Amino acid sequence: MAIREIRYRDDEILHKPCKEVKVFNERLWILLDDMYETMQEHNGVGLAAPQVGILKRVVVIDIGEGKIELINPVIIKEEGSQIGSEGCLSVPKVFGQVERPDAVTVKAQDRFGKEFEISGTELLARAFCHECEHLDGKLFLDRVIEFDDNEE
Ligand code: NI
Repeated sequence: MAIREIRYRDDEILHKPCKEVKVFNERLWILLDDMYETMQEHNGVGLAAPQVGILKRVVVIDIGEGKIELINPVIIKEEGSQIGSEGCLSVPKVFGQVERPDAVTVKAQDRFGKEFEISGTELLARAFCHECEHLDGKLFLDRVIEFDDNEE
């Protein structure tokens, strides 16, 4: 495994839509492993492939309850709403209040291409939404209602 370089907010790769993954091979598994290690190194709870410069629909999440790998994720159900503080490894030291659904179900494929569904509430629901938006070239900044009292 290796730690990959994080791309930051003005990098154009973060603003482009990602391509669907069609080949589930060792190259994808290395990317997933590297993304997870990179996320942990930076104390993140989620990371999307464009954040390490790869325009593919690949996400890793770990909110402290174990690793979740999402390939070609699609949000298929949203319920309720929550407003809370959100940040992004590509936008260091900036946090803001963002409204998200309180419960989210995602359909995705695992690293072998097998389809599955996963549901989450609260922080996990927020992470699903945030990371899926990265795959469409969107950053959370556009959704901020009010910025937190950030240090810089
Ligand atoms: Ni992010």
